[in-house]
Amino acid sequence: MIRSILISPIGRYLRTRRLFRAAKEMSRTKSKRLMVIGDPCSGNYFQFMSSMFPNCEHGDVTVDLYGCDSCNRMDINDMSAWDDYEDDGFVVMETGVLGFSKDVEAVLRQIKRISGGDFLSAGGNRGFLWVKYLYKTYSKDLIHSMDPFDSRKDEYFSGIKLGQKGSFRLKF
Ligand SMILES: C[S@@+](CC[C@H](N)C(=O)[O-])C[C@H]1O[C@@H](n2cnc3c(N)ncnc32)[C@H](O)[C@@H]1O
Repeated sequence: MIRSILISPIGRYLRTRRLFRAAKEMSRTKSKRLMVIGDPCSGNYFQFMSSMFPNCEHGDVTVDLYGCDSCNRMDINDMSAWDDYEDDGFVVMETGVLGFSKDVEAVLRQIKRISGGDFLSAGGNRGFLWVKYLYKTYSKDLIHSMDPFDSRKDEYFSGIKLGQKGSFRLKF
């Protein structure tokens, strides 16, 4: 219980902050725009926590279907919407949205295309109760919980399908 509602979310919060800083620095040194997938000022289970203690900042572009006025309210599952973004134009920082992917491989392909491989993700909550039951209380559309990913060292993107046994692993 403690792991699901405290330890895992805090770990994810700190990881998001750390990876966001790295993504921002990478976008500066590579002179690429920063895309953040996941509205920094909304979307957490405890809404007031996101507003008071955002885990990252908006990017040059921020993508979130139900995001604030600074976001592009894009559905990551709408493959034609990704066409708005050019090949290798961005460093991409993802925060808890890829769990809503209906086709993870297709979404990942778009991220690889627009990022040219510069992609960081904080992953999702992996507390036992969260992945078994509590995710249902957050959103009926949440399908997966992803592992963290850092393209500077990771080759494979992995995660689990919520409520099911087993994991998946995709070459990035
Ligand atoms: C866990 S929040 C991520 C941002 C939050 N600041 C965080 O890091 O915890 C999940 C976000 O995914 C967004 N979302 C849900 N389904 C989506 C979809 N199909 N396409 C894009 N964004 C989606 C929600 O609006 C929500 O803000």
